[in-house]
Amino acid sequence: MKKKLLGALLSVAMVASLLVGCGEKAADTAAPAADSSESTEAAAPAAESNGKRVAVAMPTQSSERWINDGNNMKSQLEALGYEVDLQYAEDDVQAQVSQIENMIAAGADCLVIASIDSSALVNVEAQAKAAGIPIIAYDRLLMDTDAVSYYATFDNKGVGTAIGKYIVDNSGATPDSPKTIELFMGSPDDNNAHMLYAGLMEQIQPLLDDGSLVCLSGQLDFDSNCTLRWDQQTAMKRCEDLLTGYYADKDLDIVATAYDGLAYGCMAALEGAGYAVGTKWPLITGQDAELMATKHIISGKQTMSIAKDTRKLAEKCVTMVQAVLEGAEPEINDTTTYNNNVIVVPSFLCTPEPVDKDNYKEILVDSGYYTEEQLAE
Ligand code: BGC
Repeated sequence: MKKKLLGALLSVAMVASLLVGCGEKAADTAAPAADSSESTEAAAPAAESNGKRVAVAMPTQSSERWINDGNNMKSQLEALGYEVDLQYAEDDVQAQVSQIENMIAAGADCLVIASIDSSALVNVEAQAKAAGIPIIAYDRLLMDTDAVSYYATFDNKGVGTAIGKYIVDNSGATPDSPKTIELFMGSPDDNNAHMLYAGLMEQIQPLLDDGSLVCLSGQLDFDSNCTLRWDQQTAMKRCEDLLTGYYADKDLDIVATAYDGLAYGCMAALEGAGYAVGTKWPLITGQDAELMATKHIISGKQTMSIAKDTRKLAEKCVTMVQAVLEGAEPEINDTTTYNNNVIVVPSFLCTPEPVDKDNYKEILVDSGYYTEEQLAE
């Protein structure tokens, strides 16, 4: 009975968030979009406390998606009566360790963690386990630990596959008309970055092999093209160096980045090197379909991104919290892929969706993720 009531409340919150989730936010880049907190508060009756506290550790507020993730988790959990302790560590690994220690000391009943460095939390995860506190990995797999119960994420290799397919289908690269390409991958301490790279390479390797794609820097292996902490400035600097070192006499045709923030860094480097949208401008990929990236897609500055509906991810993660705290059955759709070097973590993979100027309305506006007004501002 209690479960039914909780389920009903969750459904109300979900529907409300899907309908009006991100409507009223301002359009600047830092503004969280697709944030269901306001709508949930408005639609769901203030939930009676169920006496349980869920601590949510997020990596950084410097990227829009994690703000949305945090807000969605908070509002959906609160609608079910959980008390929520949401904290961001601003990409400081030690700060995240301390935050989690404090969460344990403050009596968390469950930890939800989106890690900064996925192997750096082993000790604090062991502390949680010893204290009987279950852990759910959020979006990023927690490595080298047996203390994690479930993992809610997107199909991370699928993100790379989608980016790779997009390049294969849209770059016009053929052996007779080769295109130059450089890769800007994610953080080496994030398992997602490696999976994305694997998916991408699987798609583009045949074109590299037959000469349709040419990487003049030769920096095709992950170690040479990854970007610690997914940092925009690092990507900008590396792009500047590549343009100076390898593209003085040739155009760079494709900038394959793994995240919108990296794409912004590369765009700044390209502009600095004299490239301009409309005259000489590469195909540029990204991930997260941030508000700014989507505006860039509309204006032609960024070619595509990968939409990840953080409302749906939070929804799946909440069912995992309920599972570990109330014995409910969470929905799982992958029990083989996510081996963290100690155990295979039962996972739910949400579906990432490639977006470009042709389908952004359908994927991002019709779903209520952004409004036309936000995109027009
Ligand atoms: C997430 C991406 C995000 C990246 C940078 C990854 O772990 O899966 O969606 O773009 O981190 O924040």
